[in-house]
Amino acid sequence: MTRLIIVSNRVSPPTGDGKANQGGLAVALASALRATGGIWFGWSGNETDEFTGQINISKTHGVTTATIDLEAQDVEEYYNGFANRTLWPLFHDRIDLAEFERGFAGGYERVNARFADTLMPLIAPDDLVWVHDYHLIPLGSELRQRGVRNRTGFFLHTPWPVMRLLLSLPSHRQLVEALFDYDLIGFQCQAWLDSFMEYVVSEFQGVDVDELGTIRIGDRVTRVIACPIGIDTQDFMASAASEEAESARLEMLASLHDRCLIIGVDRLDYSKGLEQRFHGYERLLLDQPEFQEEVSLLQIAPPSRAEVVSYQDIRKQLDALSGHINGEFATVHWVPLRYVNRGYDRTSLAGMFRASRVGLVTPLRDGMNLVAKEYVAAQDPEDPGVLILSKFAGAAEQMTEALLVNPYSPEELSDALAQALRMPLEERRQRHRALLKSVEREDVHWWLRTFLDALEQDRTEPEQDGAD
Ligand code: ADP
Ligand code: F6P
Repeated sequence: MTRLIIVSNRVSPPTGDGKANQGGLAVALASALRATGGIWFGWSGNETDEFTGQINISKTHGVTTATIDLEAQDVEEYYNGFANRTLWPLFHDRIDLAEFERGFAGGYERVNARFADTLMPLIAPDDLVWVHDYHLIPLGSELRQRGVRNRTGFFLHTPWPVMRLLLSLPSHRQLVEALFDYDLIGFQCQAWLDSFMEYVVSEFQGVDVDELGTIRIGDRVTRVIACPIGIDTQDFMASAASEEAESARLEMLASLHDRCLIIGVDRLDYSKGLEQRFHGYERLLLDQPEFQEEVSLLQIAPPSRAEVVSYQDIRKQLDALSGHINGEFATVHWVPLRYVNRGYDRTSLAGMFRASRVGLVTPLRDGMNLVAKEYVAAQDPEDPGVLILSKFAGAAEQMTEALLVNPYSPEELSDALAQALRMPLEERRQRHRALLKSVEREDVHWWLRTFLDALEQDRTEPEQDGAD
């Protein structure tokens, strides 16, 4: 089996306590690495006074990780800067929040070059190299410039923006050209792939594109696929049915006093539509007062990227809005909105999902959204909750049996909430059965196989050494 090298901004080695507390992606990548004897390479999360390129290699539960420390300036310009203040807002249609500073772009290039310099000696001739996410788009190109000729794939976990937004990025062409140095580019869904292709066809003269997604430009050949990421469905279902999850579920139910639970679980990120979600809930309580004291919204939102001002702002807005909603509607016996800024272990989350009548997953834009899939996997098939899902999440392409909503509209959110809360058991079961089918079929193992099979098949002709 070909050895796999995974590269991502963060490295998430397996933990000692088995799978329950780790994300499905980390678990699946770890098992692929274990099977191939591969390496997971990335930033340690630590800062150093001066970049040395020293690699810290360790082996945890059969998985070898190789990490590097970055300078404070690197972290500021590359991670907080270009990744999270330029690309993230731009890729999530928030051009109003995108900052186009040359310093950020310079830091992004520098860190990608540093990744390439330190990673290069670890790559053996037959290794498959798989680079993840928007932090590392130029890495493939940096590796090619250093003579790496291995099959190299890239997967984007975020959306790809529509062309008219992408054009506002000063270095848009350079960014996309760098992608042509990968043999395979994976997108979460067809919509993001289509946006990418629209840009490619319109911006590059003489590009040749076929119906299989092969792009030929000059002497470079790459292929694009839509390959939606999944969760470790069997594992999540087992967690949700475990004794530990059952006690979390019972504890939650006891606290509800027979009220219906609506649940949301998201990183505290402006792309998740939390403000709009709270307004939709407020509208439900205003327009359909019969739900007052009958429902409770639990929003779990652990802080994320706290050094970035737009994340500090959204946190302040949500603090104020949650206070406003509770002030407006709460009684001495009822808190309508439980807003919690902390993370929970996955088994407790699964139990809480199972205790709920409605799962509210309403990002304004999202590459995929794994919470939607976890919500479905956690349900009791005999008495399942209803998923309300944003049309603008990548997951909406697969999860068509959810109640699909426009997350910007408080009225649509309120109507969907009322529909979900009143939905007859048989309809809940039918929708759940259909959703679970696709969540089981296209799980994280399917995703991994599909992408890696395509990468292995799509060998491109080796280029000349020193090309580019
Ligand atoms: P993103 O990658 O943008 O954060 P996803 O929905 O695709 O969004 O993935 C989020 C992952 O993080 C899911 O696996 C989810 O269960 C997990 N998660 C989100 N919030 C919490 C929380 N409060 N506690 C524990 N895990 C969380
Ligand atoms: O899904 C997008 C993503 O950026 C992942 O790459 C990342 O692991 C996750 O969101 C959390 O973001 P961060 O690593 O910036 O905390």
